[in-house]
Amino acid sequence: MKNFLLVLYLTSALLFSRELPLLDEKAISSQAALFLPQGYTPTKNPSLAFEKPLQTIGPLSSDWTWKPRFFLEGQKTKVLLSLPPGTSLYGTGEVTGPLLRNGKKITLWNTDNFNFTKAHGRRLYQSHPWVLGVRKDGSSFGIIFDTTWRADLITLSRKIIFIADGPPPRVIIINGRSPQEIVKMLAHFTGKMPLPPKWALGFQQCRYSYDSDTKVREIAKRYRRDHLPCDVIWMDIDYMNGYRDFTFDASRFPNPRATNQYLHQLGFHSVWIVDPAIKIDTHYSIYQQGSAHSYWVLTKEKTPYEGIVWPGKSVFPDFTIPAVSQWWAECYAPFLAQGIDGVWNDMNEPAVFKTKTRTMPEDNWHRGGILPAGPHLMYHNVYGMLMAAATREGLLHASPKQRPFLLSRAGYLGSQRYAATWTGDSGTAMPYLQMTIPMLLNLNLSGESFCGVDLGGYTGKTTPELFGKWIVLSSFFPFARAHTDIANPPREPWVFGPKIEKVARVALERRYRLLPYLYTLFWKASEQGEPILEPLFFAEPNNLSLRREDRSFLLGEDLLIIPRWGNQKIVPHGIWRTVSLLENHQENDGYQPIIKIRGGAIVPLGRIIQNTTENSLEPLTLLLCLNEKGEADGDLYEDEGNGFDYQQGDYALTHYHASLKGKILRVTIKSRQGDRPIPPRRIHLQVILNDRVIEKEGIDSQGVEFNLEQDTSPKTS
Ligand code: GLC
Repeated sequence: MKNFLLVLYLTSALLFSRELPLLDEKAISSQAALFLPQGYTPTKNPSLAFEKPLQTIGPLSSDWTWKPRFFLEGQKTKVLLSLPPGTSLYGTGEVTGPLLRNGKKITLWNTDNFNFTKAHGRRLYQSHPWVLGVRKDGSSFGIIFDTTWRADLITLSRKIIFIADGPPPRVIIINGRSPQEIVKMLAHFTGKMPLPPKWALGFQQCRYSYDSDTKVREIAKRYRRDHLPCDVIWMDIDYMNGYRDFTFDASRFPNPRATNQYLHQLGFHSVWIVDPAIKIDTHYSIYQQGSAHSYWVLTKEKTPYEGIVWPGKSVFPDFTIPAVSQWWAECYAPFLAQGIDGVWNDMNEPAVFKTKTRTMPEDNWHRGGILPAGPHLMYHNVYGMLMAAATREGLLHASPKQRPFLLSRAGYLGSQRYAATWTGDSGTAMPYLQMTIPMLLNLNLSGESFCGVDLGGYTGKTTPELFGKWIVLSSFFPFARAHTDIANPPREPWVFGPKIEKVARVALERRYRLLPYLYTLFWKASEQGEPILEPLFFAEPNNLSLRREDRSFLLGEDLLIIPRWGNQKIVPHGIWRTVSLLENHQENDGYQPIIKIRGGAIVPLGRIIQNTTENSLEPLTLLLCLNEKGEADGDLYEDEGNGFDYQQGDYALTHYHASLKGKILRVTIKSRQGDRPIPPRRIHLQVILNDRVIEKEGIDSQGVEFNLEQDTSPKTS
């Protein structure tokens, strides 16, 4: 019977699978190639991943032998790529499971996936038709399957299979010497994360929902009273009047402007949620405006599609229509005028309740404009990204002098151009916490470096112990926001008793000390597309023993973060030394991850501050660890923290250099770029040696020079 089925399968595959010839193959650069199969039609495969239309430079060189093969199988298209043995696969966007993606199958179909249980977590809120491959020797490649249609991505050890529910897509292959080079090239094509306002790098507190002005003030006050550093308070859907976007509940938030003013006075910023579903209510102005112009996604019969979400029966803006995106952007000005600092676009897969698929029908109709008209099946995966693009425009339009901060749950390859993201409604138990690391690493390797998780866990119960474990780890993530479901009791640090509150304070103080380094990493990501979180193997791409390590990770190139459950022995070759960011061994509480600094690195640290409106760089601390040659280097990027003057030169990028000549260590400013004046300031130097830490004071502009051997610092154990 089994044999019979196999023969049947093979015969049908032969009968129904037809190989499509390559119509064209072009060089994009010496390291990137474009492959166009027969049947590729731009209007049936709109390209939304790329920041700018793709330019080719001529025919593909005859040396380029590695090519995709295309097959037509009924209504589907299959793309096949064979791989050399020993290739490690990564990327593929937001995925559950381990860092290493060999032997995995995922579906690219944005899904509202509470607790990651639907389809065993094989499809989540975002879709990235993208694979990063690292060959045995560390040389690497990247593949973009340039299609928005639903697809299965199967990453086996010797081949990659991509099966799209749509017509033949074009495929782009990037080739490079290292994974770093590939991730930067991905950013070159799909765009870099724009530099966010500095406050967005601070710690943030949310829940579903702080449902009144009184509650919000109470939370904010408690943060300050308890000296827990925090920058942002979030408003979830209960601030609205009946879940109508751009409205406020008159009894619970009678004066949102005053709420925001109160937060601002305490050094907080505020972020308020806006979902795509618009309540059907003939007395509601947003519904009236959108209906008057027929702005909604249509059914296949070309009537407005109605689905149930938080507000009840709702309609959905069709963001493929330029006029809709423009109208949506304009809706934000009066809303933001209430003193709102940032926006959270949620449920934008789009999620639709009381349906089997949890979204709208595949044959719903999008009318396009500049983009071609097409069914929802073609636009589903980019619905959230198009919404985020329109929202970002709205933020820029309303406050042209502020850097927008936007968080979007749904996304697609290239979403980093518009929004930060987080991994959605994660469970709370230990396996979910452990999974945060590979999830965020693969998002970073897919272009989305400004990402985080629901710190503390969204669904399910917690314990003080577990909360402690969440906050100490998530404080190292690029986006650090505590959040939890409406069903859960309060989950702020103080509810777990004084011991865990202290653990939380230490974790947050460590994050705030690291902010100058983190901000410099964000700036590099925005300029060059470097990831903020990196897998360990980035330190040594040809060291095969690091390829599947996903308990420890790198924050930038210079810091290695090892959770308490990690393995301290898995460390790249070279010098890596444990560092402490706080005084009096406060970090040795059994919770805080171990931090190691790379030999050859200088890492800038700030003072402990309670929020980013305070100046943290007097004094500036430089953590320094010499390499085998007795040298170290590091950058510090500074600017206003908001606005766009930095693009006109109002920034300072300082490159510090240290070198040991004989016994004399000299630390100096090697170069400073930008026009921003930096007043003379004190520096506090911490030289991390094998057996001790030497501390020295100096003046930034003068540098520091001293004899290492004459130091009397006590030896560390
Ligand atoms: C979704 C979001 C969650 C939010 C809730 C209510 O489940 O993922 O973060 O709290 O909606 O808005």
